Amino acid sequence: MALTGWDKDVSPYHSGEIALHRRLGREAKQEKMGRFIHRPYMPDQHREFFAQLPFFIAGSVDQDGWPWASILFGKPGFVSTPDDRTLQIAALSVDGDPFLENAGEDAPVSFVGIELPTRRRNRVNGVVRSAKDGVAVVDVVQSYGNCPQYIHTRELEFHRDPKAPVDIKREAFDRFDDASRAVISKATTFFVASHNPYDDQRVNGGVDVNHRGGNPGFVKIDGNTLTIPDFIGNFAFNTLGNFMVNPKAGLLFIDFETGDLIQLVGRAELLLDKDDDIAAFQGAERAWRFHLDHGHRLVGASPLTFAPGEASPNTKLTGDWQQAQERLAAEKSRNDWRAFRVVKVEDESSVIRSFYLAPEDGAATVRPKPGQYLTIKTQPEGAERPVIRTYTLSSAPSDPHYRISVKREDARGDRPAGIVSSHLHTTLNEGDLIEARAPKGQFVLDTSEARAAVLIGAGVGITPMISMVRQAVSDGFTRRYLRPLTVIHAAASTAERAFVGEFSKLQRETEGKLRYLSLIENPAEGEEAGREFHVEGRLSAEILQSVLPLADYDFFLCGPPTFMQAAYDILILLGVRDGRIRAEAFGPASLKRKVEIVDQPAQKEPAQAEVRFVSQPTAKTWTPADGTLLEFAETQRLTPNFGCRSGSCGSCSTKIRSGAVSYRNQPEFPTEAGEALICCAVPADDTTPLELDL
Ligand code: FES
Repeated sequence: MALTGWDKDVSPYHSGEIALHRRLGREAKQEKMGRFIHRPYMPDQHREFFAQLPFFIAGSVDQDGWPWASILFGKPGFVSTPDDRTLQIAALSVDGDPFLENAGEDAPVSFVGIELPTRRRNRVNGVVRSAKDGVAVVDVVQSYGNCPQYIHTRELEFHRDPKAPVDIKREAFDRFDDASRAVISKATTFFVASHNPYDDQRVNGGVDVNHRGGNPGFVKIDGNTLTIPDFIGNFAFNTLGNFMVNPKAGLLFIDFETGDLIQLVGRAELLLDKDDDIAAFQGAERAWRFHLDHGHRLVGASPLTFAPGEASPNTKLTGDWQQAQERLAAEKSRNDWRAFRVVKVEDESSVIRSFYLAPEDGAATVRPKPGQYLTIKTQPEGAERPVIRTYTLSSAPSDPHYRISVKREDARGDRPAGIVSSHLHTTLNEGDLIEARAPKGQFVLDTSEARAAVLIGAGVGITPMISMVRQAVSDGFTRRYLRPLTVIHAAASTAERAFVGEFSKLQRETEGKLRYLSLIENPAEGEEAGREFHVEGRLSAEILQSVLPLADYDFFLCGPPTFMQAAYDILILLGVRDGRIRAEAFGPASLKRKVEIVDQPAQKEPAQAEVRFVSQPTAKTWTPADGTLLEFAETQRLTPNFGCRSGSCGSCSTKIRSGAVSYRNQPEFPTEAGEALICCAVPADDTTPLELDL
């Protein structure tokens, strides 16, 4: 019977790797995983895989202890496996490459085989048993497969016989020259060798070589230093773990256009904490620097041509250093208005329309968190001044554009039509400009949380939910962990229901791991539960009980105030703790929570106060029951600008002509002297009458 897994008592990982697992709280999990995936022999699948490769990436160590990453070329069959613990390489390394010299008897070596057209990758580390006449025979120590991750496809072809003798020019350097800079700064792929000389090279020490991939510009070059982001991978940390115990590193860049090989050795410096630069780099979890010691270029050394193919889907979820710099700049001016062009308009339902927005200056935008909103400024026809509103983003943070999805608020009874939503629906077209501030908001899903989440959205309140789900699926794809999510989507009718196609697609992509339930209050004639939607009627305790098995959930609610209150009350009735319920309400009313308020300091509010709005002839008397100054102004038939109604967007900022205000809840948005965020302000306990520029 074939052996499976790691057969030794000692861990397949060494102390450097384990230190990084521990840092992420994954020590036990990774140990279990490592014992499962590492084998002291090559499975048949890997042996067949290696035998058909035209190149093999190799890691070795020179006399001075520098690890080198090399590429070995040969017609398929040049890598063979006489048995499952022996790897044999007719090592046709190019002139000037140090592999053959380094791969003497008893030397630690490492290999990664990559089939570029398919992105398959398998690895093997070992120790040289014998090296004679250009053939290295290697005892396998660790063999394991790796996911394709950040590998881009390429089509390969030999443009000359790899055995044909050619003069390869070797250009040595100890500083990056222009030619190296040009290749490295646009590289999408390189290979890195690292070495742990301290642990047993026949167990878990020795050399490691592996692939790194990203978008052009993912390697930053400053003087003699490269900075490289570390994306989510398999959490083994073979390379970074080696750097923990020995900073010496070897890098190989291939100029896929000219066939030049650039081999470098230097010292690695780990950047394990996410500073602002790393945090701004999309997809980067940490980073490392490489300080060049010396290297060389082997001109035209590759007998293979590498025609570009498709970019790795994982790489599409990552950024580059220029984008990171632009993001940092955008973050610094996040409260400034910025012009965005509408690049696409799409109807999501009979009443909801999406607008895709791209920054007019072409620079990167602030990356939103899933569930945040965008504050926009626009001037509807007939409006005396620009009007500010907030709309939740329905795009995922990893999407290339911001997308807001706006419900057209038609006139109903006494209620007039929404001036901004009508304006956006009727006049905003592809190519038009609109101003927006950076995304904000606290109603955010943490996609890395283990606890299951239930997202309950009604009407246009489904917009943050689609953003949350899209990001959770995107993160799940790279992390290989999808936070368990159930979406309960209430809509008046199937015609008004938005994003049903997107939710269904995400369900298929996650093989049903994402649960989606559509509630329709008024089905059209001929529509049936179980076909066009799942359940007829409104959200109820029975529905929640029937779809949610007993478990601990985080609930996210978004929708009209009456729906929110009803949903919240049902959850409380079902025994859900208030702290587990996050809510984002549309409209002026906020959720009345059932929480015991302990030691709430008394608010310093006057029993009544005179408030004068400059557009009105007389002052009015405010009492605490009138609510915030925004609510009070609305009852006086004024229409101040507002967005979040919770002190975080700045939309309601109003000049104070006299008097002072105090805040019921301290606003998150910075306030200027002489201005008030009226959505959370009330008159101060002050004798001067309050006069507001409204
Ligand atoms: S409405 Fe957003 S700060 Fe007042």
